[in-house]
Amino acid sequence: MIEQTLSIIKPDAVERNLENKIKSFFKAKNLKILKSKKVQITKEEATEFYKEHQTKPFYQNLCNYLSSGPIVVMILEGEKAISINREIMGATDPLKAEEGTLRKIYGISIDKNSVHGSDGLESAKTGIGFFFDK
Ligand code: CMP
Repeated sequence: MIEQTLSIIKPDAVERNLENKIKSFFKAKNLKILKSKKVQITKEEATEFYKEHQTKPFYQNLCNYLSSGPIVVMILEGEKAISINREIMGATDPLKAEEGTLRKIYGISIDKNSVHGSDGLESAKTGIGFFFDK
């Protein structure tokens, strides 16, 4: 099934000028970058975006971090785009991520893990709406 998913290049990776290198991973796996823009969001917007994590101990830190600098938000499209993107990213914690994945190669820590991707159809729809349908 052709799907769309939301991908975010987080502040740690934008700061290190990794945008083009990261985008080349998506293209190599036949994920088309339908839309892409660089933005900086407010702490309030980050709390809305990550609200599913609001009860987690790392929530405040996470929201401070995502709003701490420019990010690149993208809509990726392709066959099984949601799961393919998650394979490209690797496990949340770079220490546990598989060889060759973005988080293994570029991630610094579980917080500064370089990329975010939707985890299912519903969050893809909400995430794309959050950044692109306003
Ligand atoms: P992301 O895929 O953007 O979704 C939520 C983020 O919370 C996650 O990547 C991590 O960067 C961050 N995070 C920080 N601590 C944890 C943790 N213990 N478990 C899961 N995610 C965490």
